[in-house]
Amino acid sequence: MDREAARSLDRILPRLGADFTAEAAADPAGWAAFTARLRANFAPLFGHLLTLYGGRYDFFYHLERIVALAARSWLDRPPALRALDAAREADPAWFQSQRQMGAVCYADRFAGDLAGVRARIPYLRELGLTYLHLMPPFLAPAGDNDGGYAVSSYRQIAPALGTMADLADLATALRDAGIGLTLDFVFNHTADEHEWARRALAGDPEYQDYYLMFPDRTLPDRYDRTTREIFPSARPGSFTYRPEIDRWVWTTFNSFQWDLNYANPAVFTSMAGELLFLANQGVETLRLDAVVFIWKRLGTSSENLPEAHRIIRAFNALARIAAPALLFKSEAIVHPDDVAEFISPEECQLSYNPLLMALGWNALATREVRLLRDSLRDRFAIDPRCAWVNYVRSHDDIGWTFDDGDAARLGLDPFVHRRFLNDFYTGRFPGSFARGLPFQENPRTGDARVAGTTASLAGLEKALREEGPAEVELAIRRVLLLYSVALSIGGLPLLYLGDELGLLNDYAYRDDPARAADSRWAGRPPFDPARAARRHDPTTVEGRLFTALRRLIALRQTHPLLAGVATDLVDPGNDHVLGYVRRHAPDPGRLLVLANFTERDQPVAANQLRLHGLGYAFTDLVSGDPVAAEADLVLAPYQFVWLVPQGA
Ligand code: GLC
Ligand code: GLC
Repeated sequence: MDREAARSLDRILPRLGADFTAEAAADPAGWAAFTARLRANFAPLFGHLLTLYGGRYDFFYHLERIVALAARSWLDRPPALRALDAAREADPAWFQSQRQMGAVCYADRFAGDLAGVRARIPYLRELGLTYLHLMPPFLAPAGDNDGGYAVSSYRQIAPALGTMADLADLATALRDAGIGLTLDFVFNHTADEHEWARRALAGDPEYQDYYLMFPDRTLPDRYDRTTREIFPSARPGSFTYRPEIDRWVWTTFNSFQWDLNYANPAVFTSMAGELLFLANQGVETLRLDAVVFIWKRLGTSSENLPEAHRIIRAFNALARIAAPALLFKSEAIVHPDDVAEFISPEECQLSYNPLLMALGWNALATREVRLLRDSLRDRFAIDPRCAWVNYVRSHDDIGWTFDDGDAARLGLDPFVHRRFLNDFYTGRFPGSFARGLPFQENPRTGDARVAGTTASLAGLEKALREEGPAEVELAIRRVLLLYSVALSIGGLPLLYLGDELGLLNDYAYRDDPARAADSRWAGRPPFDPARAARRHDPTTVEGRLFTALRRLIALRQTHPLLAGVATDLVDPGNDHVLGYVRRHAPDPGRLLVLANFTERDQPVAANQLRLHGLGYAFTDLVSGDPVAAEADLVLAPYQFVWLVPQGA
């Protein structure tokens, strides 16, 4: 620890001990563990906070409050969670295991409320899940609340879903079933109905400083010149005028979502309290929402700034001190270089992998894998102590994130290609199988994204309504192909619940005034118990998808080579076939994955199998069939194989 940090800690510790004398005496072992972790993690906490706030007269006041919060939170931490802390500290790579399997849903859409989710635990177990992400279940404004991403209180659950006690009970019940709970930490903004915002609206300058507010358009106009419009159909630019206070408020997303002012240390301190509160309810992973936006600076895009990383790293150090089991998952849906910046054990151990997501869909549309293969070859590698969260789609839109240079090297014009993808996935492109919807089309820039369920994007909706069994079969195979990649490429796979039943777009949102303007709702259909009841019937779409996915998940979970994130992208000599080799130390073996992204047979030459698979005879784990590297391997339409050398 450097001298300055050590000196500060020496100053803080005795005062802390005095404030917590009774607690420390009641639980000497717990207190000793806490102070040991405080010593071990104080330097990064102090260093980041000093850089961010060291120039402020009240720096030490906030630093002491933050450390006291950590102490209070640790003392309040339930024994079961302290036990979890110990287990996770003893096995820090636990989340890289091939056994890990994630899923995500809205509590209300999946099961009505929190009690309903609890009642569906057997279903989650049947799928082999070990991780469940519930969309924000917090108190939120009535009507449009961005699917819960406008949070009115981090300590209250939306009454329709239950109570905070129900949430803690659900976390326990899930943990007992081997499933860790993930919740969002929506820390870039609050709802304009949050108590802080209400006070700001009432004119309280202390709380006005929790947000970014401007008396006139001078600064907003200057900021708007260099920032992106995230929800251009909500309003032009990033600011919303509030007549009550005659101020322009920074609102990156909807106008009712107010960005927090992290330049104010009181905001960091308050949000640290909310973070530790959630950790103590039994939340095992926090999904850090909208990470890229949390720090703003004039003349920049106000995305991915160095201070954003420092804030997260300071939160991370705090978690190591007071809730060490807690993991962070980064939601950075931006250029792949910027996504990678958020990933490290000191920042976010987990991160969505938007590049894989977007380029998987790109490969299906173009029937070739070059952009996917070349992009991942350079960009898949991350810190081996971290993990990708590999998903096929989320509750949000699909944005066509890839590096323009990567595309240009393949002769693609990035702008034209993104336009093609939007046309393809909204079904406007002739011959497209997809039935997605445009989201946030920006007539000024020509920009747009796409919303819809996996099944509808993969062709099931069109096939069922306009085509026939042959096309239905292809659509099912596309869904399975994308999930097979997520399950095998390295990292934690994430299932959007409902995809295992092939749920189609839900157009009911158009009749709900609070949702009609947000096409992402098409991709968030309610769980359908009637369809779920058919999940074991192999003559139905539901049965085919569910059974195949469950088998693949179980297969993944038995193969240690599928753990970790060591993956080599290979070129199997056919641009329609994605290939990669999985390794995982200390296992000396390798597993070769080949995946055909077209509706035609595709050959892979025998010498390619020998070269990348390092063997002459293999077993395909997916079909159980032997594969001899003597003749070409012919992959059927959308077929994928997981090859291990025979005898391995
Ligand atoms: C994230 C969420 C998205 C939400 C936004 C604002 O991107 O995934 O649903 O609209 O943040 O919170
Ligand atoms: C996210 C992303 C953006 C996404 C939106 C949610 O934070 O940055 O690309 O579309 O918010 O819809």
